[in-house]
Amino acid sequence: MSVLSKLVLAVSAAGSAVATFPNITHYPPLNTNWNNLTFAINGTGAPGIYNSSVTPDDIYSTAYNWCAMPHVRAKEYQNVDSSYKLEYVELIHRHHKRTPYASNIFPNGAEDILWSCDGEGPATYGKNATGPGSEVIPIQWSAFTSPSNPFTTIQGFNGSNCQFPQISAEGIADSWTHGFDLASVYKEKLGFLPKELDPNRMHYRVTNNVITSQVAGGLIKAMYPDLSGYQVLIQSSSFDSLEPAFSCPAASAVNSGYQAAGTLWAQHLQLAAPVYDKLDAVSGIPRNDTGGWHVSFDHYYDNLSAKQCHGFPLPCNVNNSNVCVDQELANTVYRLGNWEYAYNFRLAQNSTLYSATHYGAWILEIKAHLEGKVAGTNQDIYRHNIAHDGSVAPLMGALQVANMYWPGMGTEVVFELYSKSGSFFVRVLLGGQIMQTTTPMGALDLIPYESFHAYLESIVGTNGSELYKWCNGLTH
Ligand SMILES: *[C@@H]1O[C@H](CO)[C@@H](O)[C@H](O)[C@H]1NC(C)=O
Ligand SMILES: *[C@@H]1O[C@H](CO)[C@@H](O)[C@H](O)[C@H]1NC(C)=O
Ligand SMILES: *[C@@H]1O[C@H](CO)[C@@H](O)[C@H](O)[C@H]1NC(C)=O
Ligand SMILES: *[C@@H]1O[C@H](CO)[C@@H](O)[C@H](O)[C@H]1NC(C)=O
Ligand SMILES: *[C@@H]1O[C@H](CO)[C@@H](O)[C@H](O)[C@H]1NC(C)=O
Ligand SMILES: *[C@@H]1O[C@H](CO)[C@@H](O)[C@H](O)[C@H]1NC(C)=O
Ligand SMILES: *[C@@H]1O[C@H](CO)[C@@H](O)[C@H](O)[C@H]1NC(C)=O
Ligand SMILES: *[C@@H]1O[C@H](CO)[C@@H](O)[C@H](O)[C@H]1NC(C)=O
Ligand SMILES: *[C@@H]1O[C@H](CO)[C@@H](O)[C@H](O)[C@H]1NC(C)=O
Ligand SMILES: *[C@@H]1O[C@H](CO)[C@@H](O)[C@H](O)[C@H]1NC(C)=O
Ligand SMILES: *[C@@H]1O[C@H](CO)[C@@H](O)[C@H](O)[C@H]1NC(C)=O
Repeated sequence: MSVLSKLVLAVSAAGSAVATFPNITHYPPLNTNWNNLTFAINGTGAPGIYNSSVTPDDIYSTAYNWCAMPHVRAKEYQNVDSSYKLEYVELIHRHHKRTPYASNIFPNGAEDILWSCDGEGPATYGKNATGPGSEVIPIQWSAFTSPSNPFTTIQGFNGSNCQFPQISAEGIADSWTHGFDLASVYKEKLGFLPKELDPNRMHYRVTNNVITSQVAGGLIKAMYPDLSGYQVLIQSSSFDSLEPAFSCPAASAVNSGYQAAGTLWAQHLQLAAPVYDKLDAVSGIPRNDTGGWHVSFDHYYDNLSAKQCHGFPLPCNVNNSNVCVDQELANTVYRLGNWEYAYNFRLAQNSTLYSATHYGAWILEIKAHLEGKVAGTNQDIYRHNIAHDGSVAPLMGALQVANMYWPGMGTEVVFELYSKSGSFFVRVLLGGQIMQTTTPMGALDLIPYESFHAYLESIVGTNGSELYKWCNGLTH
């Protein structure tokens, strides 16, 4: 008997408020190029902007810009009828553009570009609020390699003063713009946020990955220019809901199930063999590598897109400058990467189950925040979560977004809670626009709170006990 069916029986027997857990109906996404494998393999062109953080105004509301995704800003913000009162805003977004991860740099001297981080190292230091421990200077990192250290085997590291990954200087600038744009709406246009940051009713949160703190520095400064320091919230890396870092073996098993032999996932890797041949000819990475280059397009995608977002050329083989990644090959990697996210988080029948449970702890948290607002026990007005593609993607999957793609840098989901005549309503914005779903809720545009809440409870349960048991295969 599967973990799931055991749990269904156990929870039913216990007569819990939720008869079945999780009670998930998968509503397939719309048919688009994003989830069309034939298009990913045989189509042409990049699925969006990959070489600049600038998105032209005339396409801002619909654009996909991997380097800096559109977000809420005054120019496009759709006002809600003034009979509705904004009560609470919680948002989550991916960090901004960065160097690649060390794991995504071509190994064994195959990197032909040296990343430079002159003057742009992350700042890391301890500080107390008052007393002698408050008299500290910001400490900035400058990475270095030593010729005496024989373990410096990755060319990308050789001589580079970047700490992979780190938010680049341009990524810090994008973070600042993101904060400025949010302030242009929630502070200036709506007057919802106070002029001075109110730490009792406003919270910013980061993950254990330091790049989210690097984003916070620029972003919060743009929203509250008078601040000279600020404490952000963070959970332990052993159970962080935001990243997410908590363990849910049953969710991982569900995901493995739809990537196993015989699935469309396995088929896409076979169909993409000629694409891998061309990429491997440049990087020199063997097909049987153990670094994850051939289990998905994640590494090649990150390697190529990070370069292009920062204006670097596409790579050539270090031994043969005639063997290069051309733009069309890079575009194919970008189409395939987006297909992989569409498959993992929306297309596969179990993708909703996986998304909801893999990101269940964070969804339980926002559910509780909304419950508290409606009950009048939560005094917060604003929560701001700086996270990852691995956070935003399962959230989009759990809400069953109509059109799934790989959440690019800065991808933002905003939850707005409104009240009107004693009733509450939820609006959800993705990329600054109303989120479309294929659930019976459709567009998440002023959905009655009760409907939205019932949907969340159906996918993550009431108070976390169902999710915890399900994740760990426990029956009581
Ligand atoms: C599952 O959730 C739906 C609403 O989403 C509800 O109508 C149905 O009764 C639930 N079924 C069980 C077995 O809990
Ligand atoms: C791509 O095109 C080739 C040649 O027309 C065809 O054989 C193949 O089936 C197509 N691939 C997909 C995934 O549709
Ligand atoms: C998928 O893409 C191919 C190639 O562009 C196209 O011929 C086909 O109609 C698309 N399928 C769907 C369901 O849109
Ligand atoms: C960026 O890519 C687009 C195609 O997507 C191309 O038209 C444009 O020239 C490129 N810009 C730069 C600066 O390379
Ligand atoms: C990607 O790998 C190529 C191959 O050598 C290298 O030149 C390039 O610097 C890498 N770029 C990133 C962003 O990792
Ligand atoms: C650290 O800051 C806290 C909060 O302002 C203060 O109560 C405490 O005395 C400070 N500790 C030291 C050692 O200065
Ligand atoms: C590091 O760079 C130096 C100088 O360019 C070169 O001589 C050396 O072989 C490189 N080491 C590695 C491990 O790539
Ligand atoms: C979805 O996952 C559940 C739980 O692991 C499993 O029992 C079921 O067979 C899966 N469904 C599909 C369509 O793979
Ligand atoms: C370049 O040539 C060296 C020496 O033959 C070899 O070890 C290395 O794997 C080659 N690199 C690539 C990316 O082909
Ligand atoms: C990969 O294949 C090569 C050549 O067949 C072999 O020498 C090597 O040991 C294999 N590596 C792994 C990690 O299996
Ligand atoms: C959660 O709800 C269940 C069923 O309603 C209840 O048995 C359990 O005690 C609750 N757990 C917590 C931590 O509140």
